[in-house]
Amino acid sequence: MKKTKSRTGHRTRVIKSLSQLRRAVADMRRGRVGTRATIALVPTMGALHDGHLSLIRLAQRRADRVIVSIFVNPAQFAPNEDFGSYPRTFAADIAALRARKVDMVWAPGVETMYPQGFATKIVPEGPALAGLEDAFRPHFFAGVATVVAKLLTQCEPDIAIFGEKDYQQLKVIARLARDLDLKTRIVGAPIVREPDGLARSSRNVYLAPHERQAAPALYRVLKTSAAAIKAGKPIPAVLQEGRAAIIRAGFALDYLDARHGDTLGPVGSIKDGPIRLLVAARIGRTRLIDNVNVGV
Ligand code: PAJ
Repeated sequence: MKKTKSRTGHRTRVIKSLSQLRRAVADMRRGRVGTRATIALVPTMGALHDGHLSLIRLAQRRADRVIVSIFVNPAQFAPNEDFGSYPRTFAADIAALRARKVDMVWAPGVETMYPQGFATKIVPEGPALAGLEDAFRPHFFAGVATVVAKLLTQCEPDIAIFGEKDYQQLKVIARLARDLDLKTRIVGAPIVREPDGLARSSRNVYLAPHERQAAPALYRVLKTSAAAIKAGKPIPAVLQEGRAAIIRAGFALDYLDARHGDTLGPVGSIKDGPIRLLVAARIGRTRLIDNVNVGV
């Protein structure tokens, strides 16, 4: 995408109503005389960390203007999950976004996103039924798909950036954008990790010190398993060892699985690749997910 204007003389607008949003998006669209500025959207639930910030940097490289949405979406949390306690750091998030010269923050309230009488839900299939996150969080992808479809319709971005951290989510959203003929191009971004390998996550703040110490085991097992598969070891044996290692590290394992990197369908051997290894496991009250590419 060609950029039309440099990011100087900046003011980050924080917008909370749909009418303001429409005007602001129309304003942002105006590039230099006769040109149309391109817009990238980075959807988030706030509690911003380096993972989110890397998505924003990519957005700034790829488009003239960047919108970051902050909305803790109640529809993607089950009643027993952490919607109430999900970290909310709005003032610090806005300060970080201002420092990075983000053009606009779209921060609707729940009543703006889901006004009284709201009655429409998008229920994705395909990658949303792969038997990974969906097997443990049955409400999750309908909640994500519905809110992301709304965010893309509201902001009409040229591109929208999602992290590979939530790999199944990225695949569900890419499918959704194609299936609904949305004009937005969905772009995936690599996982940002702590120095010890733990994937950055807003939920890492839940970890007690001893849990935080154990947490990098997930990435270690993913890497070891990926190397073993690449070296030709049979996938079922590798997964069996990996699962045992995760449990030994103190986790309750939801899944460790090898899937096709595009379709998330089952794979028998390295020949069926590209392969992704995906894991979800709980330690204390925190549920962590991660994934790696096996490579060929
Ligand atoms: P949230 O968990 O806030 O994540 C926002 C985006 O940041 C997602 O695309 C996620 O994959 C990405 N992200 C999180 N941690 C990352 C890391 N360590 N490295 C790279 N990217 C990372 O995902 C959601 O919010 C929501 O489901 C949302 C898409 C906003 C819909 O409500």
